[in-house]
Amino acid sequence: QVSAQILAFFTVARRLAAQRKEIDAVLEPFLLSPETLREVKNKMRTELEYGLKRETQGSATVKMLPTYVCGTPDGTEKGKFLALDLGGTNFRVLLVKIRSGRRKSVRMYNKIFAIPLEIMQGTGEELFDHIVHCIADFLEYMGIKGARLPLGFTFSFPCKQASIDKGTLVGWTKGFKATDCEGEDVVDMLREAIKRRNEFDLDIVAVVNDTVGTMMTCGYEDPNCEIGLIAGTGSNVCYMEDMKNIEIVEGNEGKMCINTEWGGFGDNGCIDNIRTEYDKEVDEGSLNPGKQRYEKMTSGMYLGEIVRQILIDLTKRGLLFRGQISESLRKRGIFETKFLSQIESDRLALLQVRQILQQLGLDSTCEDSIIVKEVCGAVSRRAAQLCGAGLAAIVEKKRENRGVEHLQITVGVDGTLYKLHPHFSRVLQETVKELAPWCDVTFMLSEDGSGKGAALITAVAKRLRNIDKYLYAMRLSDETLIDIMARFRREMKNGLSRDFNPTATVKMLPTFVRSIPDGSEKGDFIALDLGGSYFRILRVKVSHEKKQTVQMESEIYNTPEDIMHGSGTRLFDHVAECLGDFMEKQQIKDKKLPVGFTFSFPCRQSKLDEGVLITWTKRFKASGVEGADVVKLLNRAIKKRGDYDADIMAVVNDTVGTMMTCGFDDQRCEVGLIIGTGTNACYMEEMRHIDLVEGDEGRMCINTEWGAFGDDGSLEDIRTEFDREIDRGSLNPGKQLFEKMVSGLYMGELVRLILVKMAKEGLLFEGRITPELLTKGKFETKHVSAIEKSKEGLSKAKDILTRLGVEPSHEDCVAVQHVCTIVSFRSANLVAATLGAILCQLRDNKGVGRLRTTVGVDGSLYKMHPQYARRLHKTTRRLVPDSDVRFLLSESGSGKGAAMVTAVAYRLMSSSQTQLCTCVAINTLGHLLGIMGPELQHAAALGHLTV
Ligand code: G6P
Ligand code: G6P
Ligand code: BGC
Ligand code: BGC
Repeated sequence: QVSAQILAFFTVARRLAAQRKEIDAVLEPFLLSPETLREVKNKMRTELEYGLKRETQGSATVKMLPTYVCGTPDGTEKGKFLALDLGGTNFRVLLVKIRSGRRKSVRMYNKIFAIPLEIMQGTGEELFDHIVHCIADFLEYMGIKGARLPLGFTFSFPCKQASIDKGTLVGWTKGFKATDCEGEDVVDMLREAIKRRNEFDLDIVAVVNDTVGTMMTCGYEDPNCEIGLIAGTGSNVCYMEDMKNIEIVEGNEGKMCINTEWGGFGDNGCIDNIRTEYDKEVDEGSLNPGKQRYEKMTSGMYLGEIVRQILIDLTKRGLLFRGQISESLRKRGIFETKFLSQIESDRLALLQVRQILQQLGLDSTCEDSIIVKEVCGAVSRRAAQLCGAGLAAIVEKKRENRGVEHLQITVGVDGTLYKLHPHFSRVLQETVKELAPWCDVTFMLSEDGSGKGAALITAVAKRLRNIDKYLYAMRLSDETLIDIMARFRREMKNGLSRDFNPTATVKMLPTFVRSIPDGSEKGDFIALDLGGSYFRILRVKVSHEKKQTVQMESEIYNTPEDIMHGSGTRLFDHVAECLGDFMEKQQIKDKKLPVGFTFSFPCRQSKLDEGVLITWTKRFKASGVEGADVVKLLNRAIKKRGDYDADIMAVVNDTVGTMMTCGFDDQRCEVGLIIGTGTNACYMEEMRHIDLVEGDEGRMCINTEWGAFGDDGSLEDIRTEFDREIDRGSLNPGKQLFEKMVSGLYMGELVRLILVKMAKEGLLFEGRITPELLTKGKFETKHVSAIEKSKEGLSKAKDILTRLGVEPSHEDCVAVQHVCTIVSFRSANLVAATLGAILCQLRDNKGVGRLRTTVGVDGSLYKMHPQYARRLHKTTRRLVPDSDVRFLLSESGSGKGAAMVTAVAYRLMSSSQTQLCTCVAINTLGHLLGIMGPELQHAAALGHLTV
């Protein structure tokens, strides 16, 4: 009897062992080794990069969608908002009241509404009508039907966004499959449904993913929260990425939240090595087969399904439920996350597990319930580990972005799986710790759902939208720029024509410079350089041994404001005095060196060494100079002193000096561009187009004086109230209107005026205005440059604004940076349009299909602003696509160019005494015979050739 018992015992034991082995074999693929998890992390890391790069983004499985959320909350958000929260377990409508300041708080009222399955999977119109119906019910319930509240829409599906209030649904996920929605803007669909109902109106300000909402909800409590994780019905993560890494969004400054949509990880098969037969089964039975493969291994909606598939298999193998597949087990979706969580609870006795299975219609033995619990454990553990591996990749990326060895960061988390499951959060955290050991990650559970975060985003977006409303007129579309380009082309034509020049605003002044340096210049010269940020005197020695070399020494002299605004005599006495000082220092007071005079103001010239000032611009307003020849004035001042002599041989505009400086290095240079205190350009025009100068042969440099563009009202449609205010407060009201929209003397002031107005309307600094902020000139263009720096821009903004006495919040700094960007971008765009007109003129003059040319550029704004040059180049190339333009920065100022012009003039003067012929005759005859080189042309222009 005993031996029969032993035998029976062994039979059972053997059966159990065989059973065990088979169960272990079934669950074995769910056990992931540390190496496998590391591999998953690395693959996720690669996919994140693919999603961020322009080239690979189209085919990336992790979509890395820009969200246009550019900062986490800072406590200054306030107002009353509605929020919708669609896509998780519950559909909620909320009213959120946010108070800012010391008593900052958020109060929320919400109502949960059901969305029947037939609506989730019906038509898009039905779905959105249902949503609007629920909103109407909520408004009624709260008694706020009349208020047109701003609304933030948490929509927990992948959306492509081009702005915060636009979101095109990429594809439904989880349990939704309404028709006619994919590829459509869900905000538009909601708006239309509101219109259809025609009962109330709402201002839809933002559409937000639930990950983003969660990050913001937690970010409100913890500023270190820069990651949002959802482990719920679906699975996803968002995080704050550096703008410079987001190739598909313009701009390099600051950060933007990226909705990774990591649920799609593996859709290209890259994690197929760890997908089991059960995963494939679940995928095939889902609403979106082949998609969201990672989500289907990690999120609440699918874990129960995986368990069910395993249980079916085990039953088929006779290892469970006495080999009987019951009706209940055939039902898709019976294992909801909450049941999974209950079954796995350590506190639950086996009997209770059996009761739960009973509730689900599964009649189980004690043994069965142990196995079911084990299966659930394997599936949920794998989910948590995979999720942890993905999160480790994100955390590592953040660490690299910050460039630190040790990262401290908070992850805001929400979702039923994370919240309800007894082990999920622990396993997830352990995995992150193991795979990202250099990161100290705090997990913060979102208590209030995504609705709160969506309301916070709405508060910021509404504020930014108000700012945009202000600055809307400053954003110029390409269409407008092309129109401005055409207008400027007409101005150029008028300025060049004899009939229209007297009334033309853009004066197109002949400069009597006929070519760029040809390499034969030499000698010892002095250059004066007056009119930009600095008054400089230079000695330029051009020698000609083996190769042409230039040696320069220079001195900067102060020009106090009372001299710039005093009498002309005093101004030129000052210039003469500085020149005397310079010659003294150089020990050349006894020499009569030829002088080139860069005078950066509009001058009418009839020869090279004459310049009649048409009007002062920029900072200068000395009396008695307009209408006079500045060469004569300077000569007079030098004579009056009598302690040295000088021979002023050429007056050149700074644009011309710049073109000549750059032409020295690049023979193709035929445009000179200044974007500094003022703005202007010159270019080489065909003589046959210049009515005001005799002769049709060759070319001459034209100083456009484009700063005056618009002085006849032709730019009124794009000028803003701020431009008008700048003009009113300037030294030359009504003049140089284009220059005042573009150049460095005015840019900081433009920004200041905008900030004052915004502060007055409570959009900035909580409405505080300080005396410093109200002081003209306190906000300078160099501040605009500092604030737009990509790395330290925001902290610079904080310093600068703090010095103006306001206590800026982070959001204030972001807003001010935004204003700076819009103002400086407009400037670069406008210059691209006028420069584009010049390039088109050059192209047409040459009669070529594609223009190849070089533009010499100088000026403090162009040089110092971190983004200006790049933006200008980009827009110019877009506006004039049929061109290859090289932008060459002038390294040595206009003085060198002025010396080059002087060198040519000087050589011609020395040789001119021996020439006998008339200028006009030789000009024409010379060209007819092909014997007249640039030197003789210059001589003719100078009037140094005499009969
Ligand atoms: C958040 C939200 C939901 C969101 C959910 C994820 O708090 O407010 O709308 O989708 O968590 O969790 P669930 O488990 O409901 O999918
Ligand atoms: C050049 C010159 C200056 C000129 C300036 C424009 O290089 O040498 O005299 O006016 O650039 O820049 P700014 O920013 O000084 O006005
Ligand atoms: C969606 C995500 C969402 C996640 C969590 C996924 O199915 O694609 O947009 O964040 O579920 O709700
Ligand atoms: C002047 C131009 C000059 C430009 C850049 C303008 O105000 O009118 O002659 O080229 O500033 O300095």
